[in-house]
Amino acid sequence: MLDKTQKNWWRQAVAYQIYPKSFQDTTGSGTGDLQGIIRRLDYLARLGVDVIWLSPVFASPQVDNGYDISDYRAIDPIYGSLSDMDTLIAGGKKRGIGIMLDLVLNHSSDQHRWFQAARTSRDDPYHDYYVWRDGKPGTPPNDMKASFGGSAWEWVPEVQQYYFHQFAPQQPDLNWENPRLRRELYDMILWWMDRGVEGFRLDVIDQIAKDPDKKITNNGPRLHEFLRELSAETFQKGCLVTVGEAWGADIPRARLYSNPDGSELSMVFQFEQIMLDQQPGKEKWDLQPLPFVELKKSFARWQQGLHGCGFNSLFLNNHDLPRTVSHWGSDGVWRVQSAKLLATMLHGMEGMPYIYQGEELGMTNISLPIEEYRDLESINMYQERKAAGYAEADIMNSLHAKSRDNARTPMQWDDSPNAGFTAGTPWLKVNPNYTDINAAQQVDDPDSVFSYYRQLIALRKSHPVLTEGDFTLLEPEHPKLFVYCRRNATCQLLVVCNFSDNETEWMLPDGWADAERLIGNYEPGPAGRLRPWEAMMLERPL
Ligand code: GLC
Repeated sequence: MLDKTQKNWWRQAVAYQIYPKSFQDTTGSGTGDLQGIIRRLDYLARLGVDVIWLSPVFASPQVDNGYDISDYRAIDPIYGSLSDMDTLIAGGKKRGIGIMLDLVLNHSSDQHRWFQAARTSRDDPYHDYYVWRDGKPGTPPNDMKASFGGSAWEWVPEVQQYYFHQFAPQQPDLNWENPRLRRELYDMILWWMDRGVEGFRLDVIDQIAKDPDKKITNNGPRLHEFLRELSAETFQKGCLVTVGEAWGADIPRARLYSNPDGSELSMVFQFEQIMLDQQPGKEKWDLQPLPFVELKKSFARWQQGLHGCGFNSLFLNNHDLPRTVSHWGSDGVWRVQSAKLLATMLHGMEGMPYIYQGEELGMTNISLPIEEYRDLESINMYQERKAAGYAEADIMNSLHAKSRDNARTPMQWDDSPNAGFTAGTPWLKVNPNYTDINAAQQVDDPDSVFSYYRQLIALRKSHPVLTEGDFTLLEPEHPKLFVYCRRNATCQLLVVCNFSDNETEWMLPDGWADAERLIGNYEPGPAGRLRPWEAMMLERPL
């Protein structure tokens, strides 16, 4: 177990993301719950993770599956109670697993009592907790669009003003310019810290310092000032791990966010690699062929750019993204090998790896007919593009590749009905491949994807070069191979990954033939070629 009283304990840690709605149902409601997570803590302890990032479980009307919070200090009854949360925190602690809560501080739900009061009168003390502008009905202050479609402005007749929302209309943006609002958020965070949570993930944190008059949404002028205040008033009073979601982060900004002096956050999620699949300047749905060489170069830039002066988060998927084995891997005959390869590629790097639930089983995307999608972003996009005249097949193609519901199908525990996720009707369809891909089949199988992740996590704890070594990209232009080297004061590590359904000819660099093999997804094979989706990690003394 990591010693979490040490500052920066998280530099050796591995996190696991739970999307609670889809993890484990214990009541037959069709929706996962906190008791379900408690029941599966031993599974996570076996995997070896140190932190659970829990997507929001706070009281919420669930317009955006909990990313619309109506009470930051209450658990939504669909998930359980505050006492279940206390049990989860205690059960995690016993196993060396900290709970990282997902704080949505950029916006609240329109059902939050602050907003309910704010919308009644311009003189209400809560009015200024939100972002309002004058205007006339039908003529919003400007043409800004919300991320989930439509205008970013919503008219409220009672106050004869528009409020600003970067996401759904039911997610009004909070006004961080107001010091009383900020204090109220800090007090809430301290309240959760007192309950024993060990970290926070900060939803769209780079969007809090908005300035809609200048059409600024992310990276607003006061962003880092707000973050330093937030951090000093809350996180720095404990030994927490914090990660901000920052779609607008570049390397210089990430150095500020993850400054080793701890003045802001531990790290951010940046999305440079993630956005490589879309046409530049277009929407996430406008796909382009995956640029493999760019992927390598991007990882290399971030590894080198933050080494010694910041810290990376390492992830390939989450609840908003497609399953990595279906995206960068090959989810047909090479599913197992490519899932292991992607894990090798990522877990060989410096930073904190995040495993998204089911990734450790090699869970895949799902293709649903439009009626079966549940995600509001997907449904809105379908309607907007239909209205704009896009071809049905193109729209469905984008959804199958990129819908957030790909990641949100229920966790596949075993081959019983509904994959052991629920005794009721699941809120979102279970992927029919659960009879072949499930946890029960993998936990005791030494060759499974699960066992491979378990080994990778254990290696991170026993091989300091993984957490402290520098990074050099080899073969930068090779169209199939991702090869890199890590080095600390005592040894060198070589990570080799063949991103291909075919064999690739390749010789190990000089001096590596007798190196120790730490892990690989095939038995050692003949020199001079790599098998389809073959991956390995080798180590040798300096
Ligand atoms: C983040 C979350 C996403 C949510 C959005 C609005 O991007 O990850 O799920 O819909 O913020 O809160």
